Amino acid sequence: MKPPHHLLLSLLFAGTVGACAHPPAAGTDTLYRRLGGEAGITAIVKDLVAEATTDPRTRRSFDGIRLKHLNHSITMYVCVVAGGQCEYEGEDMKKTHADARITEAEFDALVAMLRTALDRHVGTREKNDLLQRLAPMKRDIVFSD
Ligand code: HEM
Repeated sequence: MKPPHHLLLSLLFAGTVGACAHPPAAGTDTLYRRLGGEAGITAIVKDLVAEATTDPRTRRSFDGIRLKHLNHSITMYVCVVAGGQCEYEGEDMKKTHADARITEAEFDALVAMLRTALDRHVGTREKNDLLQRLAPMKRDIVFSD
């Protein structure tokens, strides 16, 4: 005997819903999503920029910089680094930081601020994943002749 149509439909529907309800397997999710997507990254960068532009250890470089644009630009950059589908339209790290002649101490202070911001918003794994991706940029950002 053929099952009534509504039964077939509800079985199909249950199958679809079941497939969607499965969260992606842990290792396959992008860091971008684990950071809370664009909204999450925006909040992290906002905290970082607020700190870096006022802390006496780092603030001198940000004199006269348009902070709204800087916030947006760093958010887009971190989004791309984390595997999100964003458009970063700024300069490369060496060019953009060259004029400020950033020291190693300034770089390390900013990374400490980033750690604090990440602790406020995401877990340890997400924090370490992002820091690991940004760490190699030190050689471009810290000034050397
Ligand atoms: C991993 C560390 C860092 C990352 C990923 C990073 C990323 C960026 C990005 C994406 C921009 C925007 C560039 C553009 O729009 O063209 C930027 C600009 C800037 N960053 Fe960094 N940065 C880092 C460390 C630092 C440090 C340590 C300082 C100073 C203490 C600093 C000071 C600045 C300043 C002053 C600008 C504005 C440059 C301008 O508009 O002329 N950054 N940074």
